[in-house]
This record gives sequence, structure tokens and C-alpha cells, in this order.
Amino acid sequence: MEINKMYKIALQYKQNAYTPYSNYNVGCCVKDKEGNYYGGCNIENASFSPTICAERTAISKMVSEGFKLIDTILIIGDSDFTYPCGVCRQVIKEFSNEDTKIIIAKNENEYKIYNIEDLLPHGFSGDDVNV
Ligand code: THU
Repeated sequence: MEINKMYKIALQYKQNAYTPYSNYNVGCCVKDKEGNYYGGCNIENASFSPTICAERTAISKMVSEGFKLIDTILIIGDSDFTYPCGVCRQVIKEFSNEDTKIIIAKNENEYKIYNIEDLLPHGFSGDDVNV
């Protein structure tokens, strides 16, 4: 797993965060199953609800390029360990499987690795809709 590479991409994109309202910056790197990388940052809005998190920015980039399965997603933010919000957990679930790695990184050497069942137990998915 290329944590160092993914951390550097997330850090680079975190610097692009547009956060005039919260001043809380988040960066994300998604690697898809084909080995492509996508960076993302949070992008806020004066009307607040259109704000998009860094994770959903990066995942949207992946899907819009035609890829639908996350191999690894790494998240960094202004907290020591920045965990994805509930909405992002649901979006990660949509494009994950049990092998997808979710890395919450404090820095390149200190990080925690989860799967989606750890972060969204008993979650709702396409399997529930297509019964
Ligand atoms: N934020 C993210 O980008 N990802 C998360 O999972 C947590 C929250 C952003 C949204 C908002 O711009 C700022 O952090 C404060 O909530």
C-alpha cells in the first residue's frame, strides 16, 4: 500500500480546501482498483448546505472518470485523526467492497486502517434496494 504517496496527494489537495466559513481543511486521496489516483478537498458555500466534503469531491472525480470501486481512500484533516462524516461514509459504502481500505492518517507514519463495516455497521446499500 502506497500510504506515503497517498498522504502526499491528500496533503497537496488539502491546501486547495475552500473553507472561508469553518476554516477546517480536509484533504483526501482515492485510489481506484485500476491504480488511478484522485485528490479532493472540501469546498464550502455561503449557503452552507451545498458544501461538499473532501471525500465526496475525490470520489466524484473517480466516478466521473468511469471508475466505480475504491481500492483505498486516505483522509487527513485539521484534527489529529479526521474521520469521514456520516454522509461520506454512505457514499464510500456505495463505491466500496469488503476489501476497500479506509485510512485515517495523522501523518505519514501514524494512521489507522478500517473497512466500511467498521465505520458504517449494518449500512444501507444497493443490495437492500435490489431485493
Ligand atoms: N468535512 C470534510 O471535508 N470531510 C468530512 O468527512 C468531515 C467534514 C468538511 C466539511 C466542512 O467544510 C468542514 O469539514 C467542517 O465541517
